[in-house]
Amino acid sequence: MHLIETRDLVYVYPGSVKALEGINFIAPRNSRIAVIGSNGAGKSTLFKHFNGIFKPTSGSVLIKGEPITKNNVREVRKFVGIVFQNPDDQIFSPTVEQDVAFGPTNLGLDEETVNHRVQEALRIVGIEDLATRVPHHLSGGEKKRVAIAGVIAMEPQVIVLDEPTSGLDPQGVKDFNEFINSLSSKYGMTVIFSTHDVSLVPEIADFLYVMNKGRIIAKGTIEEIFIQPDLLQSVRLDVPVLPKLISTLRSHGIGISMAFTYSDAEKAFLEAFDRKS
Ligand SMILES: Nc1ncnc2c1ncn2[C@@H]1O[C@H](COP(=O)(O)OP(=O)(O)O)[C@@H](O)[C@H]1O
Ligand SMILES: [Mg+2]
Repeated sequence: MHLIETRDLVYVYPGSVKALEGINFIAPRNSRIAVIGSNGAGKSTLFKHFNGIFKPTSGSVLIKGEPITKNNVREVRKFVGIVFQNPDDQIFSPTVEQDVAFGPTNLGLDEETVNHRVQEALRIVGIEDLATRVPHHLSGGEKKRVAIAGVIAMEPQVIVLDEPTSGLDPQGVKDFNEFINSLSSKYGMTVIFSTHDVSLVPEIADFLYVMNKGRIIAKGTIEEIFIQPDLLQSVRLDVPVLPKLISTLRSHGIGISMAFTYSDAEKAFLEAFDRKS
C-alpha cells in the first residue's frame, strides 16, 4: 500500500481554471520524490491535496489506501506535513521557538516532549541561534527554515516541501540537501518536494515526476528522465549541467560514464582521464 496515491485527480479552481487534469501520483514508503515543472504547472495545487487542504473536483486522493474524510483529516495532517511555498503562510507566532512549538503543542504533547522536539527541529535545520527571534524580522531564507522546522517538529511520516530552496543562498541549498537526506536516512521520512531548479534533484530525489499544464508528462528515475534533454526543454526546464556536459564530451568521442551527482561525475572524470579516485 502506498503512503500517498492520487487517482485521476482533477482540480478546477473557482472561475474554472483547470489546474490538474487527471493526475496519477504514487509515493511509496521511504521514497524521495521530486515534482518538477515550470511556473503554473500545478505543483502547488497537487501538494495541497496531500493533506486535505483541497478536495478533488473529481478523482481521489488516498492516504495509506484510505480516502481523506472529515473524520480522518486530523490524523492525515499528523501523518503528512506540508511546508508551503511562501513561509508567511505558515508562520504566526511572536518568536521562532513558539512558532515551531505550535504544531506539537496542538497535538496535545506534554511540555517536555514539545521542548525536546522544538530543539531537535531547530538543530536539524540549523537555526538554533534564531530561537528567540521575531519570525517576521527574519530574511526569506531564514523564514523558510523556520517553516520547515515547524513541520519537522510534528514528526510526520511524509514531509512535502513546495519549492523549498527558492530564496535560499548557495550555502542554504547545500544545507538543505544535507538535512533532507538525513530526514530520509535517519528518521525514515518519505520526502516529496517540488522545484523548477533541476540541478538540485539528483542529489536528493530517487524518483521524479515532470508536470506541465496540469498533467504529468513523464515520470521515472533520475537516469531515465535526465537523459532526455528535449523533454525537459519542451516544458521550459533546464537540462542539468553534469549530464549535459558529459553528453557533449561523449559526442566528441571521449569515453566517460554518464553521471548525475557531483560525486559520481568526479569519479567518472577521474576514470576517463585514467586517474585513481
Ligand atoms: N487561487 C487560484 N485561483 C485560480 N487559479 C489558480 C489559483 N492558484 C493557482 N491557480 C492556477 O492554477 C494553475 C496551477 O498553479 P500552481 O499549482 O500554483 O502551479 P505551480 O505550483 O506549478 O507553479 C495555474 O494556471 C495557476 O494560475
Ligand atoms: Mg507553486
